[in-house]
Amino acid sequence: MRSPSAEAKLEVLDLTPHIGSEVAIDVAALMSGRHAAEILDLLERRGVLVFRGLHLDDAQQRAFTRTIGELLPQGDDGLLRITLDKAANPAAAEYLKGSFHWHIDGAADDAPTAASVLNAKRLSATGGQTEFCNSCVAWEEMPDSVKKSVGDLNVVHNVETAQWLVNPTPSYEELRRWRSHAPKVHPLVWTKKSGRKSLMLGCTASHVDGADTDEGRMLLRELMEWATQPRYVYRHHWEVGDLLIWDNTGVMHRVTPYDPESGRLMTRTTIKGEEPQPPRRESGRL
Ligand code: OGA
Ligand code: MN
Repeated sequence: MRSPSAEAKLEVLDLTPHIGSEVAIDVAALMSGRHAAEILDLLERRGVLVFRGLHLDDAQQRAFTRTIGELLPQGDDGLLRITLDKAANPAAAEYLKGSFHWHIDGAADDAPTAASVLNAKRLSATGGQTEFCNSCVAWEEMPDSVKKSVGDLNVVHNVETAQWLVNPTPSYEELRRWRSHAPKVHPLVWTKKSGRKSLMLGCTASHVDGADTDEGRMLLRELMEWATQPRYVYRHHWEVGDLLIWDNTGVMHRVTPYDPESGRLMTRTTIKGEEPQPPRRESGRL
């Protein structure tokens, strides 16, 4: 009998130089959990992992997610249905339109989730591709002078900031609801458990804490442009049955707009965040 250490390594194909790898594995091997450590190591290095044509059902998706981390208790026993169809998802369909803009899941929470697992159930005929940018490599390739000048900044993240993009004319009640979620201050530069650093940005990023608001917003635009350059981006063209995992504190993501009536449906499971990052003490000097 082969020992676990003699287990064959996974077959991996890099999809772009800086982000995204496709992993060839069958459902039984994936569900067994014996490749979990290798999958997590690949995820840390490559930001996004693509498993094509798995067609996992809900129970399998939850079980697989538990092999690589702690399943966040949300939705239907840990599983969210991601759709813009108001009939299927009355509570969240409007809110989810925020995902058309670059973001980090849970960026306005204390600890953004560690990783997300997305499983394609039904697709839209147009749009609906998901893009990911590697904000670790974006940080690593930044000129040293810029790293030095922004490395100690803190950024205020807000649900409200993202929702203005989706709905520029909120009712009083809507605005009140957005504001019921308290703003969260995070360091701009996230230090991951691996020691790697990434940029904590996205459409929830309102302004630089303690700095002139306009100047801070200009800087955030500049940094977003840097981090989302084509060379840091992988765009996934989905087929039903594909399963993707992304490292939520090392990449940002967005979905290209699609028709809310298209029936597009994804199921998402999420791994709990465990890298709380205290804001930096020195902040605000731009
Ligand atoms: C998400 C998300 C993108 C998509 O589930 O967090 O951003 O392609 N989804 O549906
Ligand atoms: Mn998202």
